[in-house]
Amino acid sequence: MKGIFITLEGPDGSGKSTIMKKLTHYFKDKNIDFIGTREPGGTEIGEDIRNIILDKKNKNMAAETEALLYAASRGQHVHEKILPALKMGKIVLCERFILSSLAYQGVGRGLGIEEVRMINDFAIKGIRPDLTLFFHVDPSLTLDRKTKRNEGDRLEKEGTEFHKEVYRGYMELLKKYPENIKIIDASKTIEEVFNQSICHIEKVLKNQRGVIV
Ligand code: TMP
Repeated sequence: MKGIFITLEGPDGSGKSTIMKKLTHYFKDKNIDFIGTREPGGTEIGEDIRNIILDKKNKNMAAETEALLYAASRGQHVHEKILPALKMGKIVLCERFILSSLAYQGVGRGLGIEEVRMINDFAIKGIRPDLTLFFHVDPSLTLDRKTKRNEGDRLEKEGTEFHKEVYRGYMELLKKYPENIKIIDASKTIEEVFNQSICHIEKVLKNQRGVIV
């Protein structure tokens, strides 16, 4: 049986983590063989890289270094965890993947979408999600809350302008690469957002495995 790779994407504060938790329960209840994971991180090495990237004391980190660290964490994640799980026929549910790098580093940091894509292609050897759920929220609804939080990490504490650029980047990417990306209206209630997500996941499961879960 073929594994299925599903990613959750969207700006900071779009509610991905809440839905990820609910999806985890849903898959467990249905006895579906899956793993839940996240980026940056997902492996021991990746979590160490995550700590370096998000540490507020690393104010001097160059945009290039940041992009390479995200790609390094992803390379490790794909080789150590994602590919082996897919080969075993599991569903892989992953919070953030390459689209985040294209939006945050490619557009937000201004490194260029193609440049960031190239370093990621090198790191992950072309693996692509079967389904990406994009959690869409108007940035004005989330930015103030996230960027002003005292405990926010290095990326969250970037100014509103940076996060507006990231949002603009995502909008550009959705037009450029619509394939396999489904837009979720994340301004709705948690239950509604969850139901929209499940609806898309069930369609992919049905198409690829012919099962209704
Ligand atoms: P998280 O808070 O969703 O776990 O992600 C940590 C931060 O890292 C978040 O602000 C988004 C950012 N990020 C990137 O800038 N590029 C990437 O490739 C990934 C995966 C995350």
